[in-house]
Amino acid sequence: MTVRWGVGGTGGIAARFADAMSLVDGGRIVAVASRSLERAEAYADRFGVPRRYADYAALADDSEVDAVYVATPHSRHEADTLLFLGGGKHVLCEKPFALNSTQGQRMVTAAHDAGIFLMEAMWSRFLPAYRVLGDLLADRRIGDPLLVEADFGFRAPFDAAHRLFDPAQGGGALLDLGIYPLQLCDLVFGAPDRISADATLGATGVDENTAAVLHHPGGGLAVIKAAVRVAMACTARIAGTQGVIELPAFMHCPDQVRVTVERQTEVIDAPYVGDGMRFEIEEVHSCLARGVRESTVWPLRKTLELAATMDTIREQIGVRYPGEPENAAGPA
Ligand SMILES: NC(=O)c1ccc[n+]([C@@H]2O[C@H](COP(=O)([O-])OP(=O)(O)OC[C@H]3O[C@@H](n4cnc5c(N)ncnc54)[C@H](OP(=O)(O)O)[C@@H]3O)[C@@H](O)[C@H]2O)c1
Repeated sequence: MTVRWGVGGTGGIAARFADAMSLVDGGRIVAVASRSLERAEAYADRFGVPRRYADYAALADDSEVDAVYVATPHSRHEADTLLFLGGGKHVLCEKPFALNSTQGQRMVTAAHDAGIFLMEAMWSRFLPAYRVLGDLLADRRIGDPLLVEADFGFRAPFDAAHRLFDPAQGGGALLDLGIYPLQLCDLVFGAPDRISADATLGATGVDENTAAVLHHPGGGLAVIKAAVRVAMACTARIAGTQGVIELPAFMHCPDQVRVTVERQTEVIDAPYVGDGMRFEIEEVHSCLARGVRESTVWPLRKTLELAATMDTIREQIGVRYPGEPENAAGPA
């Protein structure tokens, strides 16, 4: 079975997706949609894509497409995902899945109602290093994990129109980068039961540098940071009752895992060739081949929990996107 992919959007991540697809068996990109025919043509010519559309609805109507990769800014994810699900396409949607958990729930409901596959492109979870990490935790190599420290950030030049800073595109450090430390907390502890967050908001009103402390049932604690105006180590450390696991930079896509128990450090290499997005694509192919409608590695329940955590953090730091109501417990 060859999965016939469409791509919605022609920006940076859409190009990486095409590179990753070239490394994977069982799928090929057969169509691309852009808001402009010129950009659709440029992408299609660059990556050898046969059909190119100047609007996203035409891609949703293409009966020769099985699955669509949503590669648009965060603020477009809900509308684009609903459009493609409505056209009967399976959907792999970039992270963050949606601006908020209310949007995310609508997307999940639409996929369930239609019996169609849907997954957030949380590529970290499918990387070899994260599989090693999962095994180490399951084997209790560091005993009971008690503390996670993780950060991800860099200094981007301020540009009010760029999607990192533009509220209309869901800008801010939390949704773009903080989501990675948060998914690590989820892997170690599950969903938090208490959150305390603060942030520096910039000229456009989005969070530029953000920090949060998360408490989890059972007592697990996490300290996470995300930034678009200051460079960070981009590492992670999981401390347990019997040892420590470290993910070197970049913590969302490391190629090794270090475990220290009783002062002995073991370095476990987990390299991969080419773009690491290939592993999430392989997961989609595997799910479709087995006829299952969601991934067990990164299920939609986890996506919605993560979205709810980010809702709570944004509520505390005072970041609201256009169209979201004031004083909402969870943005609508
Ligand atoms: N997994 C990862 O490592 C990773 C890395 C980077 C980004 N991402 C995610 O991928 C998504 C896209 O990021 P990107 O870096 O590719 O962004 P980008 O370079 O700005 O590209 C986004 C594309 O979306 C399309 N688009 C549709 N509606 C738009 C609108 N109203 N405003 C702007 N663009 C619009 C545009 O394509 P057309 O003009 O052709 O329609 C644009 O090229 C984000 O959600 C981001 O979080 C993930």
